[in-house]
Amino acid sequence: MHESRSNGAGQRHRVFSGIQPSGSFHLGNYLGAIRNWVAQQPLYDNIFCIVDLHALSLPTTRNQLRANILHLANVLFASGLDPEASIVFIQSDVSEHAELCWLLNSVTQFGELRRMTQFKDKTGGKEEQVSAALFDYPVLMAADILLYDTDLVPVGEDQTQHLELTRDVATRFNARYGDTFVLPKADIKETGARIMSLEDPTKKMSKSDASPNAAIALTDTPDVIRRKIRRAVTDSGSEVVAGPDKPALTNLLTIYSLFEGEPIPEIERRYAGKGYGAFKQDLAEVVVAGIEPIQRRLTELEADPSFAREALAAGAERARTRAARKMAVVRDRMGLGLADG
Ligand code: TYM
Repeated sequence: MHESRSNGAGQRHRVFSGIQPSGSFHLGNYLGAIRNWVAQQPLYDNIFCIVDLHALSLPTTRNQLRANILHLANVLFASGLDPEASIVFIQSDVSEHAELCWLLNSVTQFGELRRMTQFKDKTGGKEEQVSAALFDYPVLMAADILLYDTDLVPVGEDQTQHLELTRDVATRFNARYGDTFVLPKADIKETGARIMSLEDPTKKMSKSDASPNAAIALTDTPDVIRRKIRRAVTDSGSEVVAGPDKPALTNLLTIYSLFEGEPIPEIERRYAGKGYGAFKQDLAEVVVAGIEPIQRRLTELEADPSFAREALAAGAERARTRAARKMAVVRDRMGLGLADG
């Protein structure tokens, strides 16, 4: 169940999470992150960030980035983020993120960053040519989180190592300069934190997968969804069961279970003896029905970009106030400038 919702002082726990505006969003992003943000929205003091500075770590263009930011904002609002209940904003609108990143660089070790598995994955063997921003990516993420005294960070499993680094950096800063940062905890759900590729269930579903059939995008049409699920790889055998030796079926059952809110053993029981074909056909309809309301709302929002623009501007305003307050403390602790004589 949920973590307790407030701290000792009776304030609601602070939640912060981020998502990159880089292309299309898939079921992994939705089931591993966005959906949980929406579900937990009433419980916490929430801040959700469109991390456009992070998106600069891989090659992009001005027009592409602009379009991706607006699309992501509409996806988040269409999925149910409520700009009244949560602060939703664009990272680059609050310059303190970049500033704190630089300051935290001074308490981060080169070796720590070199050990980050996401960095190794994203370099694709071309370490000499990738941007320095890709290497520094986890420090900017630590800055995002630490800037707001975050207690909980709801993310998919692939972010675990980045969260550990954030805690290590905060601990080192606090030891050197005095207690300044709250140590955040990752909020990773047991189910859905690692949705796998439909073509290779040993790999996570990913935006950067070269094959378009590996991931279901939130904007895929019903026919595309049906085709991708029909083609999804399965395990040897014919029974619809999850288990460590059945990675493909485990993944498909997980997706079914999350959309329908039905435990996996019950689904297994219902499909006993029915084979993969019948299960896949029903799963496709479950996914189509599950994302249909999001797609409908997305179409409405895309017709009226002013909703997202206004919500993000108001979100940035609120985030800026909090970030400025924190940065004044950080600068003072580190001895930067001569503001107070
Ligand atoms: P990004 O944009 O890659 O992913 C956004 C969220 O989606 C989750 N996710 C998945 N969950 C389950 N199964 C999958 N196959 C899958 N693929 C992606 C990610 O875990 C993430 O929660 N570094 C972050 C962005 C970020 C951030 C932050 C997050 C920047 N600053 C501060 C939290 C706090 C990222 O790569 O997101």
